[in-house]
Amino acid sequence: MAGTFGNPEIVQEEVDVLLIGGGMACCGTAYEIMRWAEALKAETGKELKIKLVDKAAMDRSGAVAQGLSAINTYIGNKQDPADYARMVSNDLMGITRDDLAYDLGRNVDDSVHLFEEWGLPIWKTDAEGVRHDGAESIREGLPLLKDGGEPVRSGKWQIMINGESYKWIVAEAAKKALGLARIEERVFIVKLVNDKNDPSRIAGAVGFSTRENRIYVYKAKAVMLAAGGCVNLFRPRSVGEGTGRAWYPVWNAGSTYAMAAEAGCELTMMENRFVPARFKDGYGPVGAWFLLFKAKAINAYGEEYMTRNKEMLNDYPPYGQAAVPASCLRNHLMLKEMKEGRGPIYMDTVTALAALAETLTPKEVKHLEAEAWEDFLDMCVGQCGIWVGEDVDPREKNSELMPTEPYLLGSHSGCCGIWVSGPTDVGAPNKEEYDGIPAHLPSGWNWGYRSMTTVKGLFTAGDGVGASGHKFSSGSHTEGRLAAKSMVKYCMDNADFKPELDTSVEQLAEEIYKPVRTFLEHKDYTTAIDVNPNYITPKMLQFRLQKIMDEYVAGVATYYTTNAKMLEVAEYKLGLLKEDATKMRAKDLHELLRAWENYHRILTAEAHMKHIQFRQESRYPGFYYRMDKNFVDEENWHCFVNSVYDKNSKQWTVFKRKHVDLVDKSKLFKPAAH
Ligand code: FAD
Ligand code: ADX
Repeated sequence: MAGTFGNPEIVQEEVDVLLIGGGMACCGTAYEIMRWAEALKAETGKELKIKLVDKAAMDRSGAVAQGLSAINTYIGNKQDPADYARMVSNDLMGITRDDLAYDLGRNVDDSVHLFEEWGLPIWKTDAEGVRHDGAESIREGLPLLKDGGEPVRSGKWQIMINGESYKWIVAEAAKKALGLARIEERVFIVKLVNDKNDPSRIAGAVGFSTRENRIYVYKAKAVMLAAGGCVNLFRPRSVGEGTGRAWYPVWNAGSTYAMAAEAGCELTMMENRFVPARFKDGYGPVGAWFLLFKAKAINAYGEEYMTRNKEMLNDYPPYGQAAVPASCLRNHLMLKEMKEGRGPIYMDTVTALAALAETLTPKEVKHLEAEAWEDFLDMCVGQCGIWVGEDVDPREKNSELMPTEPYLLGSHSGCCGIWVSGPTDVGAPNKEEYDGIPAHLPSGWNWGYRSMTTVKGLFTAGDGVGASGHKFSSGSHTEGRLAAKSMVKYCMDNADFKPELDTSVEQLAEEIYKPVRTFLEHKDYTTAIDVNPNYITPKMLQFRLQKIMDEYVAGVATYYTTNAKMLEVAEYKLGLLKEDATKMRAKDLHELLRAWENYHRILTAEAHMKHIQFRQESRYPGFYYRMDKNFVDEENWHCFVNSVYDKNSKQWTVFKRKHVDLVDKSKLFKPAAH
């Protein structure tokens, strides 16, 4: 029996492995971990206790909730993991971990093969070069990818799928592997708990049910923290009538970064962000249009800004000389048009579809048009609503593009996240290279267990792993699987470890339900429930956070610009906000969820601000500009920026870490134009 709103039931459970999140990464861990756990049981008779908790329902949770129309990372047989590591590095302006990208690249195709085996329809090209969508490929009996089937590539790394049910398929396999008894849905994890006897070790996590008055306290030897990235820390472009729309799924609220920071993990590249250029208002995907339909983006006068402004790329050697300029640089060239008054920017769907009609049969054109709609229907239904509502026929009317508000993530075209141990067999060319780097990185970027953070027993994957990026859905699943193996090893190696929480259960429960207590204590002070000097509603607090970030930390209000002075103001205001966050109220369980999401957002926002403040350059023009340091400084800032948060003093320590290329990058660049 669950408790009451004022007096929640407390459920305590001790497990070996706790998985937080039910998205692509955790589904990968769930699937893979059972294989190793079963092998362990067969060999030693020891059975690992495993539990997965997700704040939502796994079938539709996380960024793949609505479905996807492409798998953006599939290596195939025409390129290799080193090419992939090169591409990741280039798109993220040279500062990524080659060991992580390479390792992902050599394993990712296996996850895609599993997806196909589990029923995901994947487009194929037949022996005559004719393209078939997923359902047709199955009907025609075209070979599976693992048997040499040829995918339809939208881009060099991306393959087309019929992916409306992608997440259902992946979650089903994870659930089947774990068994429903090991899964608890609709449990929001609020914080991780360190070990009483060793603060640098994880001992468990606490959260609450979003449906019943119940608090969950878990003790665990090993924890996977894969709760996605962070959305809604900046004021979104969609306000008023459009409130609630965002590109990134709104339910990922920075839990990964905030909880990791409070547990003492080293974070990396938190200054990085992703500002996707998207179809305006609906946030519809552009990848298929750019890559598959070969559409061009133009200004209001029909000029292609990538051609018109190409000289601007020369300001950013060597990255500007890459065959495919980085995502941020593409934005940089677009923003010039907008700032100088040559907007709106359009995706030239009219010219692209007309050009395709010249080479394709009418049947193929019809099919392609259906695909253009399905691209949205698969992953962003709202964009179809815009097309219908605004009478857009893409053959006759171009659609506006717009750079969105910033998002923080580590698995799409961004690289913020947690600093993790890499693979054991890829790494430092020689030990001396790393002289000066603290002892927990003795030979490169590995300290024993793949994907373990700098807190013992705490692992991460997907959006959680920083300094990599471009993993997307398939790569996040793969990273989850890679971590699973080392989590089982960690449990075996630490078989005698008995986790003890550093805080009492009563205290943890009190902390979690504090917004409820605040509400119950003060609700009768006024007659209007939302107006009260003793508390702040989560909604108002979120508006305040978004305003600070938008106006001072390079949001859309300032065309993504900031400077040291503006960051100083942001720092002060975020400090006040953090204090006021302790006065958030929760009038029901939904608000309790919103309150804690906001708390996670604030810490994530603070990390972002601190890193931008520390990095004395503008590494990602088009994503953000430090106008007082508006250049890329390869000599002094070709390095990682990492940080550690002290939850007691509430202070951040931000510092540099040396960057080393493990894969030769010279192939990427052509000689500078001048
Ligand atoms: P997610 O899959 O987002 O999972 C996070 C999980 O954590 C969810 O289950 C969530 O419910 C849970 N959670 C969050 N907070 C908590 C908490 N406090 N307690 C408990 N659980 C919590 N990839 C492609 O390959 N192709 C594409 O076309 C493509 N399009 C994309 C479009 C968009 C708009 C976005 C945002 C991403 C897209 N991606 C695409 C990338 C892909 O979706 C992500 O890389 C991948 O989902 C990341 O996996 P993850 O497990 O890290 O996070
Ligand atoms: S999605 O999340 O909506 O699918 P998006 O449309 O940005 O993402 O991109 C899908 C894939 O295409 C990603 O791998 C992205 O890096 C790539 N991509 C998008 N636009 C371009 C472009 N103009 N040039 C090269 N690659 C691109």
